[in-house]
Amino acid sequence: MINAIRGFNDILPEETGLWRFIEEEAFRVFSTYGFSEIRIPVVEKTELFSRSIGETTDIVEKEMYTFADRRGDSLTLRPEGTAPVVRAYIEHKLYSTPVQKLCYSGPMFRYERPQKGRYRQFYQIGAEVLGEGSPRADAEVVEMLMRFFEGLGLKGIELQMNSLGCSTCRPEYKERLYGFLKGIINDLCANCTRRMEANPLRALDCKNPGCVEATSRAPSIIEALCTECKVHFEDVMAHLATLAIKTTVNPRMVRGLDYYTKTTFEITAEGLGSQNAVAAGGRYDSLVEEFGGPETPCLGFAVGVERVALVLKGAEVFREKPLSVFIPLGAEAEKRGVEIIRDLRSRGARVIEDFSTGALKKRMKRADRLKARFAIILGEDEIRDKVVTVKDMATAHQETVSWDSVYDRISIEA
Ligand code: HAM
Repeated sequence: MINAIRGFNDILPEETGLWRFIEEEAFRVFSTYGFSEIRIPVVEKTELFSRSIGETTDIVEKEMYTFADRRGDSLTLRPEGTAPVVRAYIEHKLYSTPVQKLCYSGPMFRYERPQKGRYRQFYQIGAEVLGEGSPRADAEVVEMLMRFFEGLGLKGIELQMNSLGCSTCRPEYKERLYGFLKGIINDLCANCTRRMEANPLRALDCKNPGCVEATSRAPSIIEALCTECKVHFEDVMAHLATLAIKTTVNPRMVRGLDYYTKTTFEITAEGLGSQNAVAAGGRYDSLVEEFGGPETPCLGFAVGVERVALVLKGAEVFREKPLSVFIPLGAEAEKRGVEIIRDLRSRGARVIEDFSTGALKKRMKRADRLKARFAIILGEDEIRDKVVTVKDMATAHQETVSWDSVYDRISIEA
């Protein structure tokens, strides 16, 4: 017996309906804001991720699935979608249009310790706006995400905002933070001590309780913003208020990827335990330029599909259409049934034909085990009268229905 690899999950039929519903809802809502789908490869050159996400991040240091292909080129299974979208944007000169609003969905790969809500292959639905610098765009993207989550019925949603500044103010803040960290160096873990040289911000992201406590009085990045970043952040917050979106500012939220500038945000939901971030994102105004494209302010986010599905499981937000099992009794019924089944399916009904033979009782049991809501029986009498017998398996109610009204009879809310 060969099992799946740890952290790599099968999404079984009882879950995929909800998954598809989440994805379709996302694309439907995003489309009303002008987003179009982009499909990006699952594998990219390693350099794309190490340069954009940052050499000192957890993702690049220890979580990437990197391998040499047969030519010896270093490739990586994508740990996220923003860098590939930026690559595609530059490669296909998508900047010839003033604004690109692109969304995507699919698997991402990170070698993290698997637990509830955290996997090594996980799915994201992402959205990226390329070519928009207005703080109103930040607020609009957050609003879109909130509308999407509210529409799904997610409970206990909390939004946290921060600004990570820009190349003008962040270096100065990093200096100050570095000075602060030097003063508490004996209380920091080995990882933070090592990383603080290259990127002191990482210490604010460390989950080690000792580091959390030791950095609790660290200088706030919000207070260190330059005028441009400060005004931008205030504008974003004001627009969010206009949109009636509640939020808290968390100056410690530095995110696990280095490409962010100015606004960052994270959304958490109830009922997930420690891995409760259902979506996160922010601005990355320098990334396109760093990869050789024109100056392009950008922002975006990604939703963790497993986590959203975990929260919605059993919440009845989505139900599959009822399933019917068509049971023909004898060769003539099998022949006559062709047309009836074809008509039902062409109108969108879900029908399984029972190809088994034997006693009707046995076949009805089979229909029940298939979790059918209706059994549609066609026997000699029914053929003569141009009807079928429809049994509602939930209520045990049985009735005779003419051939042209079978669809109406079985098209009920599940
Ligand atoms: P991220 O915060 O690394 O951001 O991931 C976004 C979301 O993906 C998380 O909030 C979480 O819901 C989900 N997620 C991340 N890792 C895992 C995992 N191991 N298992 C299950 N779910 C996970 C990004 O990836 C950025 N690309 C977001 C972005 C887009 N920023 C700008 N544009």
